[in-house]
Amino acid sequence: MFFERVLLPVICLGIEVFPLVSAEDVDIREVLADKGTNVTIPCGGLLTMPAPNVQWVHRGIKTHHEVLSDRSLLLRQIDVDDAGLYECGVENETAYVDRVNLTVRTEPPPLVNVTVHASTILALILWNVAGDGGHPIIDFTAQYRSAMPINGTLEQWRPISPNHISPNSRQIDVYHLEPNASYWFRVWATNLLGPGPPVEVLATTLYSDQEAELYKHFLEGAESFDTRTWVAAVCVVMGTLVVLAAGTCAVLCREWRRDGEPAAA
Ligand SMILES: *[C@@H]1O[C@H](CO)[C@@H](O)[C@H](O)[C@H]1NC(C)=O
Ligand SMILES: *[C@@H]1O[C@H](CO)[C@@H](O)[C@H](O)[C@H]1NC(C)=O
Ligand SMILES: *[C@@H]1O[C@H](CO)[C@@H](O)[C@H](O)[C@H]1NC(C)=O
Ligand SMILES: *[C@@H]1O[C@H](CO)[C@@H](O)[C@H](O)[C@H]1NC(C)=O
Ligand SMILES: *[C@@H]1O[C@H](CO)[C@@H](O)[C@H](O)[C@H]1NC(C)=O
Ligand SMILES: *[C@@H]1O[C@H](CO)[C@@H](O)[C@H](O)[C@H]1NC(C)=O
Repeated sequence: MFFERVLLPVICLGIEVFPLVSAEDVDIREVLADKGTNVTIPCGGLLTMPAPNVQWVHRGIKTHHEVLSDRSLLLRQIDVDDAGLYECGVENETAYVDRVNLTVRTEPPPLVNVTVHASTILALILWNVAGDGGHPIIDFTAQYRSAMPINGTLEQWRPISPNHISPNSRQIDVYHLEPNASYWFRVWATNLLGPGPPVEVLATTLYSDQEAELYKHFLEGAESFDTRTWVAAVCVVMGTLVVLAAGTCAVLCREWRRDGEPAAA
């Protein structure tokens, strides 16, 4: 029972898969490597010829890279240009013995759909991720600076808290901007290999006297908190409660008297 139901299908599956595996001498092998590292790509297959008769072809052209004595190809400090298909074979023959697709892992590519929605003194930066470069994104970083040059130069970039934005985030708020002012905002992703290129967006805050004053007042109030204001607020609340309690008592007393009248009569 066990043999028929479980083992037999497994064995048949194995017999079916095996010929494919043995015939993979020209299948494309995938090799992943980090940008800037040295990579050795072995020329697999059942080759017995000496190294001088081996040639490696990249994108249809014989490579200038060093072929080692074991026929493998040595790529030094690889860059994105080195990615793609590598094929090794016997010199002057068109058939290939081994084919390798090299993928070069890099820093994250620039973020896409980067937009800034500015109100008077607040702004919201939004972005999308187009890829991670081959390693997961560790965090995002956003910065801003005034677009108005001072003495002919732009000010230093200012950090936007938090400095390390969660990799699940796709937006960040910016506070304490000036109304009716232009700012550059920039944002980028970082992975194991480092930061990707920043994307810069220009935005101008709205002009609205009242709204700006309101926000400023609110923020200033939060920073320099006055205990007298608090005591006054508590007094007002307590006073209201006392008045409410007195009112409730009065109503209850009247109800009680009204209920008592028929009983007395
Ligand atoms: C890569 O190759 C270069 C040039 O041969 C060498 O200077 C460097 O140390 C190598 N790097 C590694 C990580 O082996
Ligand atoms: C390959 O062809 C070139 C000229 O086309 C010739 O000089 C060279 O000897 C040939 N190599 C082999 C291994 O036959
Ligand atoms: C090589 O790998 C890249 C990325 O994984 C893929 O886009 C490309 O189609 C592959 N090329 C070949 C010839 O398999
Ligand atoms: C960018 O925005 C467009 C339009 O809103 C959307 O279709 C696309 O999916 C976005 N790109 C990414 C990588 O999210
Ligand atoms: C501009 O430069 C002048 C002289 O270099 C300096 O006195 C002045 O304070 C600068 N203005 C600002 C806003 O930094
Ligand atoms: C907004 O700024 C521009 C240029 O900086 C200025 O010309 C304009 O008068 C300002 N608007 C208000 C309402 O302050």
